[in-house]
Amino acid sequence: MTQPEASHPTVTRRGFLKSSAAAASGVALAQLATERFALGASPGDTVKIALIGCGGRGSGAADQALSTSGSTKLVAMADAFKERLDGSLNNLKGKHKDKVEVPDDKKFIGFDAYKQAIALADVVILATPPGFRSIHFEEAIRQGKHVFMEKPVAVDAPGVRRVIAAAEEANKKNLKVGVGLQRHHQPIYLETIKRLHGGAVGEILGTRAFWNDAGVWVRGRAELAQKLGRPPTEMEYQMYNWYYFVWLCGDHICEQHIHNLDVIQWVMQGRPYDPSGKTPIVHPVKVRGMGGRQVRNGKDHGEIFDHHACQYEYADGSIMFSECRHIPSAWSNVSEHVIGTKGRCNVGDGSITGENKWRADRDVRQGHDPYQIEHNDLFDAIRNDKPYNEAYYGAYSSMMSIIGRMATYSGKEIEWDKAFNSEIDVMPKTYAWDAPTPTNPDKDGLYSIAVPGKTVTV
Ligand SMILES: NC(=O)c1ccc[n+]([C@@H]2O[C@H](COP(=O)([O-])OP(=O)(O)OC[C@H]3O[C@@H](n4cnc5c(N)ncnc54)[C@H](O)[C@@H]3O)[C@@H](O)[C@H]2O)c1
Repeated sequence: MTQPEASHPTVTRRGFLKSSAAAASGVALAQLATERFALGASPGDTVKIALIGCGGRGSGAADQALSTSGSTKLVAMADAFKERLDGSLNNLKGKHKDKVEVPDDKKFIGFDAYKQAIALADVVILATPPGFRSIHFEEAIRQGKHVFMEKPVAVDAPGVRRVIAAAEEANKKNLKVGVGLQRHHQPIYLETIKRLHGGAVGEILGTRAFWNDAGVWVRGRAELAQKLGRPPTEMEYQMYNWYYFVWLCGDHICEQHIHNLDVIQWVMQGRPYDPSGKTPIVHPVKVRGMGGRQVRNGKDHGEIFDHHACQYEYADGSIMFSECRHIPSAWSNVSEHVIGTKGRCNVGDGSITGENKWRADRDVRQGHDPYQIEHNDLFDAIRNDKPYNEAYYGAYSSMMSIIGRMATYSGKEIEWDKAFNSEIDVMPKTYAWDAPTPTNPDKDGLYSIAVPGKTVTV
């Protein structure tokens, strides 16, 4: 892999020790010392962590970051809701008593909380609903911090472009970036995709990707009103029940199906990922799809669909067929498949049939926690200054989900270049508990839903 070009000086602890000699040539030691933690950390240093978005995944990611080898400390937390932060802090304290030091003045609440928490850390974990990710990532890189950010990294094309721009900055500043598409750290995927890149199924003719299951939680307006002791503002409600609003979640094609779309994207690259961002990422040229909502039609179901089916067409003529569905008691399947001139592959199953028949060994299949491995790998890169920037593929895989939604909501064939350059920004103009939201309920408490053939998405 190519070493990222560093236009800024990179100062790891080893670099710092070497650079001490430079003091004689007029380099201010104090300045080097303050830059040290922002730009790198040696194996012996305590790495300070901030958690932004203290829900289920954020708390899990903080646990995993604190479980990496070497000294780590959780020093700051930020969340939109105080109760979420307090619950997460208690859990983390229970698990990592000596590694959690977040006094009241390092607990930050509200829309701007992220800025203050980021300022206190070497590494920040970004795990809010995805709508905020590009904003938070940009700020973390601006402040010179290493990042672990959950997927998706954006919910619209402007957000994707913002993430790519910040990824470029991260490389210039030698900051390491991990993205929570954990299959990239899961031995069975790594081993199988290495074989696919080596030609195990021959030329790829087509691929398939599924995330079909029953769906996820619903956090109702009445439940929130009871907690608050008053009716919530519309912004409070949408933030609380974020899964069901496009500006926060991107729809379930973004929030969950991204994992499967990302695997196919990884396969289609035909080579290992280049964290320098200099190797262009292969992507589809156009996408067609259909979708709608059949069973998701309650007042707390916001505006998202409950099924999407898309065809992604690549320049080599191969097609990916993709399905995602949130409907209970229907066929459930989460998987990725490749069909080639010499065989077929079930990627997550680690099995290839045809000319190069193969099945992954038991030690590759079992006993690995990709959530932990992705943090081990990121912290190893930080401590040992290895090239590490997953934001480019994170951004492209997020765009795969977004273009799928553009196709299903509009019912049109969507060209990649148009979608990627789209100026349609789904986010609110301002962030405050009483600020206007991008969509609002009608007099019956229902939201408007995309209508294929009518809705404009690019
Ligand atoms: N990689 C995976 O397998 C995986 C699994 C689950 C979730 N995720 C991702 O993790 C992210 C979080 O999901 P979750 O399940 O933890 O959701 P969650 O609702 O449990 O947690 C989100 C937290 O973010 C907080 N928040 C919302 N807006 C905020 C803001 N502007 N600033 C600070 N905090 C804010 C919420 O109050 C909440 O505590 C999502 O992007 C999701 O897709 C990834």
